Amino acid sequence: MLGCEELQIINKKSYYEHFLVEKYQKKGCNFFYIGAKDYPAFIEFSVSAVVPSLLRGLESKAVSSEDKHELLIASHQVIHKLVDSIGFTPMAQNLANSAINSTIETLQLVGRSKESGNLFSKIKKMLKKGDFVSEHSCLVSYIITAMTIEINWCSEVTLRKYVVASFLHDIALKSPDLAKVRNLDQLYALTDVTEEDRSNFMNHPEIASQMITDLQELPPDIDTIIAQHHERPDGKGFPRGLSALRVAPLSAVFIIAEEFALRLYECQFDENQMMEIVMEMKNKYNAGNYRRGINALIKSIMK
Ligand SMILES: [Fe+2]
Ligand SMILES: [Fe+2]
Repeated sequence: MLGCEELQIINKKSYYEHFLVEKYQKKGCNFFYIGAKDYPAFIEFSVSAVVPSLLRGLESKAVSSEDKHELLIASHQVIHKLVDSIGFTPMAQNLANSAINSTIETLQLVGRSKESGNLFSKIKKMLKKGDFVSEHSCLVSYIITAMTIEINWCSEVTLRKYVVASFLHDIALKSPDLAKVRNLDQLYALTDVTEEDRSNFMNHPEIASQMITDLQELPPDIDTIIAQHHERPDGKGFPRGLSALRVAPLSAVFIIAEEFALRLYECQFDENQMMEIVMEMKNKYNAGNYRRGINALIKSIMK
């Protein structure tokens, strides 16, 4: 630690209490240096303290669905931190698997209960508990579950594909703020974005799709859903500009859920604007492989 008259060295692998950092902060030390080659070990060490309790909470049957939601958001933040700094390590994969299992269990319970019609009203009070990418990823999984119930695609296999895709589709984004961007026009309208961030945004669907091939025992199609999540029916999406007939049917449903999740944030969950947004989306997505998904979204909102 540097920045004041004293220099404190914490040796690699030696344990330190947070009060030590605070003590030097109070003395005016503003910098905490970690050598570049020690950084991966430091990140793994720092998250290893919270991962076991997250895993216990996610696997527990005694935790309420609201508390599970908070655990999911926290798990997503840890996974994103690991992926962003050192990659999709076994620890990140283990936590992702557990979080995905827990989401599926929670969503199946909600789907089977009489609460399913109230999914959207439940969403609102569950939000504002974490960073945008984590919250957005959970929100997409809730919306898509409601949609798959309407399409009658709610088998465990399909649900798993969608939950994994929801959880990991933006995992390769370097700038979390860019997760709010829906299309290239919005991207190019941003003035405070570096060329590197822009390039990362353009490539994040394919980078994430590649990353998940490291996850073991993954059902097929998830890589395709993730790789195509920014395609649009007018062919102006990216990275491939696929038309409404060329996009995979599973991806088309996901694309609609993801856009709707973003638009809910844009209107700050104002229920009066929600129908307007859905009707605007109906005009846009009433084509090719998107038709089934947009009708499912409308039905799930009308409940
Ligand atoms: Fe997204
Ligand atoms: Fe994305």
